[in-house]
Amino acid sequence: MRAVVCKSLGPPDDLAVEERPDLEPKANEVCIKVHACGVNFPDTLIVEGRYQLRAEPPFIPGSEVAGEVIAVGEKIRHVRPGDRVTALVQVGGFADQACAPGEAVMPIPREMDYSQASAFPLVYGTVIHALRQRAALAEGETLLVLGAGGGVGLAAVQIGKLMGARVIAAASTQEKLSLASHYGADETINYSHGSFKDEVKKRTNGQGADVIFDPVGGDLAQDCFSAINWRGRYLVIGFAAGGIPEVALNRLLLKGASAVGVFWGAFVAREPKVNFENFEQLFAWFSEGKLRPHISKTYPLEEAAQALADMRARRVNGKIALLP
Ligand SMILES: NC(=O)c1ccc[n+]([C@@H]2O[C@H](COP(=O)([O-])OP(=O)(O)OC[C@H]3O[C@@H](n4cnc5c(N)ncnc54)[C@H](OP(=O)(O)O)[C@@H]3O)[C@@H](O)[C@H]2O)c1
Repeated sequence: MRAVVCKSLGPPDDLAVEERPDLEPKANEVCIKVHACGVNFPDTLIVEGRYQLRAEPPFIPGSEVAGEVIAVGEKIRHVRPGDRVTALVQVGGFADQACAPGEAVMPIPREMDYSQASAFPLVYGTVIHALRQRAALAEGETLLVLGAGGGVGLAAVQIGKLMGARVIAAASTQEKLSLASHYGADETINYSHGSFKDEVKKRTNGQGADVIFDPVGGDLAQDCFSAINWRGRYLVIGFAAGGIPEVALNRLLLKGASAVGVFWGAFVAREPKVNFENFEQLFAWFSEGKLRPHISKTYPLEEAAQALADMRARRVNGKIALLP
């Protein structure tokens, strides 16, 4: 098989494509012929050695794949060779073959192509968990989404609308904001100039947003705590800007508000049944044409380093994928 190999932790420049022996599934594994690999921000952190999941070089990065089942271990019952699936692998995805634990492999709807399937589980799985189980977003509430032109951000715009919220999309460029509008955002804010908190208040009758979805962190998070409504919920999704915000707890006290952690990977392991129900809803929305991943660019395996560099440099709109 062909695979992208990370031989030392750091910037992605040294990633190289190598020939490796073909894979054999263990008893609880599914082996997949990979047609598309999703690229996610955590992949950049894993290659740099700055993520909670540590991988020892040499390793194959890449956390989600889509393709066709080629072999299954003896304990696998829910899929068989020839099935079209998507799977989470944590690492090992940037290759033309990957093995995934059975519980992380899901058959995909007939209408979903492999690029879409590779761009689906991580961002939509995270967002529906965040908005349903963690924020309990209610119809008619205002949802403020930061990083709204990126992977999880654009998914939050779409699912927020499907759950009946009024969505305010915030991002750093007009291009990303136009994309968010195209996918349903009701209002937009460019946070690269002006006062972010004043703009949010202006669009919420001075009240602030009911739910804030923040995959960016850094200084913008401080503004979020000033622009949150009474009983608001601030969702801690990630820290793409690098800085982990510190919260002055009096801000939460004054608004009767909550800061709510979201860790989708741990949720999948601890509450697989609820995650499965979330995906039933997501796949139903997809099949009804209500949910579409936006894949702005695809790359061959040889350009994995470029794909990760684009993500690091905030150049990605929606999702990107590697096509082995
Ligand atoms: N909690 C969970 O379970 C979970 C699951 C999946 C992902 N995440 C986290 O969510 C975050 C976003 O992931 P993603 O895959 O959606 O990434 P992404 O597509 O790259 O989106 C991140 C967005 O953050 C903004 N950003 C601001 N400063 C940035 C910087 N210095 N570098 C890069 N981006 C910056 C960019 O939007 P602007 O240019 O518009 O500011 C970008 O579109 C990551 O921190 C990831 O680890 C968490």
